[in-house]
Order: sequence, then C-alpha cells, then structure tokens
Amino acid sequence: MHFKTRAIHAGQGPDPQYGAVMTPVFQTSTFAFTSPDESGEFDYSRSGNPTRKALEICLASLEGGTRGFAFASGMAATNTLLMLFQAGDHFIVSDECYGGTYRIMMSVMKSKGFDIEFVDLADIAALEAAIRPETRLIWIESPTNPLMKLVDLAAVATVAKRHEQILTMVDNTFLSPYFQNPLELGIDVVMHSTTKYINGHSDVIGGGAVVKDPALGERIYFLQNAMGSVPGPWDCFLILRGIKTLAIRMEEHQKNALGLAKFLEAHPKIAGVLHPGLESHPQYELARRQTRGDGGTFSFYVKGGVTQVYALLEHLRLFAQAVSLGGVESLIEYPWTMTHGTIPEAARREMGLKENLVRVSVGIEALEDLLEDFSQALDCVPA
Ligand SMILES: Cc1ncc(COP(=O)(O)O)c(C=O)c1O
Repeated sequence: MHFKTRAIHAGQGPDPQYGAVMTPVFQTSTFAFTSPDESGEFDYSRSGNPTRKALEICLASLEGGTRGFAFASGMAATNTLLMLFQAGDHFIVSDECYGGTYRIMMSVMKSKGFDIEFVDLADIAALEAAIRPETRLIWIESPTNPLMKLVDLAAVATVAKRHEQILTMVDNTFLSPYFQNPLELGIDVVMHSTTKYINGHSDVIGGGAVVKDPALGERIYFLQNAMGSVPGPWDCFLILRGIKTLAIRMEEHQKNALGLAKFLEAHPKIAGVLHPGLESHPQYELARRQTRGDGGTFSFYVKGGVTQVYALLEHLRLFAQAVSLGGVESLIEYPWTMTHGTIPEAARREMGLKENLVRVSVGIEALEDLLEDFSQALDCVPA
C-alpha cells in the first residue's frame, strides 16, 4: 500500500465495539481482568493501551519496520534506547546533533561511565578509524541540525555490519518517514521526535522508535514498560490525527522551503544557504540518492553578524521565533542562543556553528506571503 494510504489506515480500522471510524481515546489507566488469572490484551496503560497500539502500528508501517514504539517525548525515546547499553560501552555520535542529544550524552551518559566520541559521520574513513572493540552504538542525524550536512546512511550501516556488536540508530525527525526510511538502508533503529513533522501541529510533545528485528523490538518493549517513558492516550490520538495528513503536509513544507531557499540564495543580504535541495549544497547528489525529498527545515547565513540576525528576526511578521520545527506554521530560530545554546561555546564552534546562522522551519502558508514577509524584513536589516 502507498504511504498516504498507510498513514490513514495502518493500525486504525473502525473500532470493533461501536464502529467508530476514528481510533477512540482509551483514557484509562487500567483494564478489567476476566478472572484473577486472566486479562484481555491490555491490563495497565504503561504496558499497553489500544490508542497507543494504533499509533505504534502506524509508525512501524510508515518506517517499514516490524515494531513501533511511542514515547512521551523524543528525548524519552532516545533515553529509553540508550538503556540498551552498559557502562563502559563506547558510543560514536554525529558530531553535530540536536542539543538535547548532546546534553544527555555529555551530562548524563558520560558521567555514568559511557565513553562518548563525536565524529563527522559524513567522513566514512573517520568513522572506521573511530570504531573500537567496545563500540556499541553509532548515533546518526541526517540531515544534521542546523548545518544540514548529510550522512550516507547505507555506507554507515555497511561499516557497522562488519562489527556484530554495533547498533546503528538514526534520528529521522527532520525528514520524517515520508522522505527518508533509514531501516531500508540497513539501519537498526529509527527514532523520531513526533513533536515535529509527524504530529505536525505544534500541540503535542511525543517520541517514537521503529525496528525491523523482532528480538531487538522485544528488548525495547521491555525497557519502554520498565522505564515508563510512555505517552498518554490523548497525545497518541492527536499524533495519529496529525499523521493522516503527513504526506500532503510534507509536500507543501518541501515546496515552500525550497522556494524560500532559492529566494534567499539570490538575496544580497544573505551570505549562504544550507539546503540539500539546492545544487550549491555539497551533498546534493547524495540527497537525490538517499531521500525522496529535502523536508521543510533549512539554515542560512545572514551577511554581517548578531546585529543583522536580530534585525531580521525582529522584523519578520509571519515567522514566530521558536525552537521547535515541523508544524504547519512557519518558525525561525537562532541556533547560537536557542536550540544549541546549552552546548558549550567551544563545542559549538568545533561543530561549525557560527553567530550569523539562522534556522527556519517553513510552514505550509502561501509561499508568496512568506517571501513577501522575508523581503520586507530583509529591507530592515542594516548592511
Ligand atoms: C532532531 C531532534 N531530535 C530530538 C529532539 C527531541 O525531541 P523532543 O523535544 O520531542 O523531546 C528534537 C527536538 O527539538 C529534535 O529537533
């Protein structure tokens, strides 16, 4: 079945009790046993809930896996996955990753005895050189946030598969399963902040993970239940509702983002645009091979520095200054102080972040209005 159809139907048949077409919100903590030694499919909502089950089946279907998991947030998903490992294990992590991922790696996992090494995963030779007998995890973001570097996922998976003990995990939040399916490229686990494109309406915090290997799925289910990192049924319902329009939203995000990227690339007050759908992007060819689209989020450099960036952000009317992304409304953020502000300055510089970098999550408004807004705001930016 096609993606659009699966987004609407996977895990979501009419409710067997009353025929409700929409998956009901099973807002219950517990389920009645039929006798002291017999329960139905569900007994307690941390262990399982029918609304969550529908979402988990749908996520698995969209990513092409055998088992999906829903979590209370993207970070709850990440943290639960990290509990698969033991102190002393060595993790290779994308040298440019989401600030919250950096924080959990450096401020929590490291102090618990994990050995964390940040590597530029676009450089396969550097990855191979970093692998040690204790390496257990390669954590990947592609495209990276906010510099929009791509990692060749199939190449990383091939390297990892030479070492039986290594798991590969991809944070697929930026592209959503509509544009990229890491499991099909040989990756072991795909993780999402469903807060972003998957829900798509900036009204829920959620996370997800999908695997192909049923045995790995069992281990993750054990941890999800043991840690209790689960979402409530109402949030699952909202995310399921959001998913129904994921395909058409992603097409609109993509069209608007590319349109804005081209406009900015030609603007005299912009120093450069980082968007894998532009031919100027150094990995344009890899993007064409690996993904079905470039998503709705990208970054650009404003000519000048902090003064020019602040002037631009202050004069935009349709782009709210906010750290999230992937909602129907356009958002803009300044990674230096916002999403990546918790990363120490030296590490930010080492990642390649600069003070004139801006990230934009382009919504699904009329592109003409977005261009007009940028045009008037850039007119207010001092040269
Ligand atoms: C790429 C990426 N991964 C993970 C997360 C964390 O997700 P959440 O905020 O849902 O915990 C975010 C949040 O911004 C993100 O952008």
